[in-house]
Amino acid sequence: MNPSGEARKRLADALSDEELELFTSTGGLTLEAADQMRENVIGVIRIPVGLVEGLIINGRCLDVPIATEEQGVVAQAFTGIRLAALGGGFAAEYTGNIMRGQIQVLGVPDMDAATSRVLAEKEALLLDANTVSTTRKAVDLEVRTLQSAVGPMMVVELFVDVRDSMGANLVDSMCELIAPTVENLTGGRVNMRILSNLATERMVRVKAAVPASELGDCVARRITEACSFAEADPYRAVTHNKGIMNGVVGVLLATGNDTRAVEAGAHAYAALSGRYRPLSTWKVKDDLLVGSLEMPFSVGTVGGVVQAHRLARLVLKLLGVETASELAMIAGAVGLACNLGALHTLVTVGVRGIQP
Ligand code: MEV
Repeated sequence: MNPSGEARKRLADALSDEELELFTSTGGLTLEAADQMRENVIGVIRIPVGLVEGLIINGRCLDVPIATEEQGVVAQAFTGIRLAALGGGFAAEYTGNIMRGQIQVLGVPDMDAATSRVLAEKEALLLDANTVSTTRKAVDLEVRTLQSAVGPMMVVELFVDVRDSMGANLVDSMCELIAPTVENLTGGRVNMRILSNLATERMVRVKAAVPASELGDCVARRITEACSFAEADPYRAVTHNKGIMNGVVGVLLATGNDTRAVEAGAHAYAALSGRYRPLSTWKVKDDLLVGSLEMPFSVGTVGGVVQAHRLARLVLKLLGVETASELAMIAGAVGLACNLGALHTLVTVGVRGIQP
């Protein structure tokens, strides 16, 4: 059997003949379907999808398809998954589906008075925003003032429960809808109406604890030293985080999600303290190598490309995933697995395996 033979057999067991054909031959995206999705389509680019087997997350064991052009990513994920399994796998949690929209208001004559007027009309503004959708709701509204190169500005922020969608179109529509009222209330001029990709109300936290004694001589300590390097130096932290994003983006690409949104949010979150830092840490505690990852995740399992792309739908079916919460936690766990696998390789044989 070729190296992928076992994974392909698992796929064949899980899918119908027609689905298997879709997965392995057309890539699931015809030019006609692509035309419905994007402007000016001239072709479709295909990326290999590898299967990472045996991810244990919150007590479930899953095989996870990862789309990546990079050699080594699937192997690193698999190494991390195998090591984490020695300690029972990954525990993950998700904070909810709230996305933030921003309305920028310039030239406000009296910030304090305008803030009071907007907040006094909060319920009416939310009601107005909620005419956009019957299922997903704007739940809160806040006002901030900023100093900037073009003078003071007000930012009216709308918080929306986007449920299992990524939510960008919904949040943008709501912001556009209430912007004229915001202008009237503030006496200012609205410039921008758009969601923020720094989804701090949509966080994933993943943990794993590996018995240090199982890792071999000094490996756990060496992994913590690698993390201290990333804590101390942004040049290292960005590569550390790239290793995490290898897994995260692989899962998101395979499920038709907006990978740039999650990447932008992850890097902004990494720099939120004022210094660019690693998204994960690994520490030794009581003979356990304990890893944790925390990052924002604006992903969806319904709407947009997820729905239009047949192969993305099939990947979600294979994963047995219906909610944004489940998908975000799986992608986070694969990210932490890739991180562990990469660090383990780096502090032992090296990624190229070159021996002097
Ligand atoms: C390569 O795609 C990812 C690594 O550079 C990650 C890391 O250095 O931690 C191996």
